[in-house]
Amino acid sequence: MAQLWGGRFTEETDELVYRFNASISFDRRFFAQDIEGSIAHVIMLAKQNILTNEEKDTIVKGLSQIREDVESGKLAITEEYEDVHSFVEANLIQRIGDTGKKLHTGRSRNDQVALDMKLYTRIEILKTEELLEKLLHTLLSMMEEHLDTYMPGFTHLQKAQPITLAHHLGAYFEMFRRDFLRMGDIYGRMNYCPLGSGALAGTTYPLDRHYTASLLGFEGPTWNSMDSVSDRDYLIEYLSAAAMIMMHLSRFCEEIILWNSNEYGFVEIGDTYATGSSIMPQKKNPDIAELVRGKTGRVYGALMSLLTTMKGLPLAYNKDMQEDKELTFDAMDTVKGCLLLFEGMLGTMTFRKEVMAESAMKGFTNATDAADYLVGKGMPFRDAHTVIGRLVLYCIEKEKSIDGLTIEELKTISPMFESDVYDAISLKACVERRLTTGAPGREAMMGAIECYRKFLQECRQKMP
Ligand code: ARG
Repeated sequence: MAQLWGGRFTEETDELVYRFNASISFDRRFFAQDIEGSIAHVIMLAKQNILTNEEKDTIVKGLSQIREDVESGKLAITEEYEDVHSFVEANLIQRIGDTGKKLHTGRSRNDQVALDMKLYTRIEILKTEELLEKLLHTLLSMMEEHLDTYMPGFTHLQKAQPITLAHHLGAYFEMFRRDFLRMGDIYGRMNYCPLGSGALAGTTYPLDRHYTASLLGFEGPTWNSMDSVSDRDYLIEYLSAAAMIMMHLSRFCEEIILWNSNEYGFVEIGDTYATGSSIMPQKKNPDIAELVRGKTGRVYGALMSLLTTMKGLPLAYNKDMQEDKELTFDAMDTVKGCLLLFEGMLGTMTFRKEVMAESAMKGFTNATDAADYLVGKGMPFRDAHTVIGRLVLYCIEKEKSIDGLTIEELKTISPMFESDVYDAISLKACVERRLTTGAPGREAMMGAIECYRKFLQECRQKMP
């Protein structure tokens, strides 16, 4: 057992307690950030004449060597230490002797762990942004390719009006664009440095917190030392945004699973991203889409878990907060993994344009357009709605589509129908005449695509 405390204890910690309390098995993840924070801390201590320059140099050298040795595999982070902070400090003292004991001057593990987790989360946010950006690029090029790929749009999972695949994909572009922006918002709000807050009440050493913050790339220091060591809001925000990404991915996966089913037959997932059955030779299953949908639950779980952990905690630090790590790390891995796999799967999908167009033509998706046609001939919309309702009923009885009726049949329902109706309610016309901003018509879609292209250019310029 290697602990950073023990002076006031006369007995050894119970073995079970030690293991229950320890966090090294998971906080070793931010080993690199722990070293980074410690280096910044000692540089600041030397600038403030709390340490000599010589002491600072010795400590920085020792810390850098520990980092090198861990990275090269020469030094293992083992479970004999309580946490990663103890591991680093114990190794430092072992290497450089008594000077190493000065590292923790004016610092507590409470502000240290708050810093490490923030540094780690900042990187995760950037990685998630990058994956979202890649997904947005893929979606945009798919949109450009499928401006004329007609398909049915649904409400209540009932065919409603025809749209294009580009339009459908555009809806997801919007969702993931918001997810991308949310990541940036969280980064901006959390980017204040807690180091120097001590255990909860700052310290009597003349620390320059602004300096440490700038060394570590923060906007500045946090302004309340109690909040600094007990704030996990930014993780809850991250998990909430992560849950939202998963929700969006999951909805998309649900649609891909439907589209890939025998009943729909809209899409085929490539062999590299599909799986087979051990018993049914004919099967090709969309497991990746199902797994992404399934993994959404663990990210929601992480969010609920941390919210619940935090709800009853009195200020300031409590050990409960150690529970923030495993579940957040798991959510981080899950979101990144799902974004990566989902984007890969998109690239393997082949859309069956004829099947989609055929499906769009069935189910009376042009009924609204037929009503609009009568409005064009002078009938008030409410009356036109009733007339087309009767027409649909007639079609159902005759097992025909609206455009499959003869002009004579149409005229028996309303004399206002003329032969130009067929052009007016063709699949192409139904889609292409929808030109309001945000609608599926080609011209309208080109406007959206132009805006998305600009968005992606600008966000690239802004990213570090
Ligand atoms: N492993 C601890 C955590 O993750 C580090 C902080 C320990 N602080 C303390 N007062 N015991 O929260």
